[in-house]
Amino acid sequence: MYPIVKKVVLSSAVKEFEVRAPMVAEKAQAGHFFIMRANERGERIPLTIADYDREKGTITTIIQELGASSTLVGQMEEGDEILDFVGPLGVPSEIELFDGPTVLVGGGIGIAPIFPIARALKAAGNEVISIIGARNKDLLIWEEKMASVSDKLIVCTDDGSYGRQGFVTDALKDLYAERGKLAAVWAIGPMPMMRAIANVTRPWAVKTIVSMNPLMMDGTGMCGACRVQVGEETKFACVDGPEFDGHLVDFDLAIKRLAIYKDQEKRALAALEH
Ligand code: FES
Repeated sequence: MYPIVKKVVLSSAVKEFEVRAPMVAEKAQAGHFFIMRANERGERIPLTIADYDREKGTITTIIQELGASSTLVGQMEEGDEILDFVGPLGVPSEIELFDGPTVLVGGGIGIAPIFPIARALKAAGNEVISIIGARNKDLLIWEEKMASVSDKLIVCTDDGSYGRQGFVTDALKDLYAERGKLAAVWAIGPMPMMRAIANVTRPWAVKTIVSMNPLMMDGTGMCGACRVQVGEETKFACVDGPEFDGHLVDFDLAIKRLAIYKDQEKRALAALEH
């Protein structure tokens, strides 16, 4: 069993959990994820590893309560134990020393998984510029953590309640106009946000990496649930990703596939609430 050693309520629907999982923490790297099952009745949920502490043997993740399973997990408390915890899974981020600034764009809870990538890029000697955004101030997470691994941090809110008003794409366009050259962009957040970032950087021919979060089942490349169209190839996010070239990902198809189980999800959530 995997005990929750710390829980932080970041907003009504967004919770941060630190879980004791020494074997996972030992091997975790930026870009990895894990799959957990809260109890015998719970679904398998893929979550990104947002931070890890090898000495304490813990990993940190952020969960947004959207459906029945994520709501069940979100309601767990410190001291509760998670039944299954499998990881680290996926291919870690390719960290290298780039010839120019690297830009990390995190939207909503996508700010959490972008953090270890920013930290690794910084440790490799890169200039790290981070752009983080949320709908409003209350939904903005990990500003201090991102500041601690960034040479420059730009904060945006859609409603202007904090930082600059507007979307992360606008901040990225302004940054490009200011700097003239960017070496690489990582974008993690809702699929429409990642699609928008990829569309912005495509004409600049700036390497753009996105992290896909499709439906997953086994997480081992066997079931095909997590397939993503990347250029001419069909890839499995669990074993080939979750990071892919944002300019090649078919986001329209990925968004359609994510919506497949919306009705079942709504019914499961309603059952949970009654
Ligand atoms: Fe089954 Fe990726 S989750 S192949």
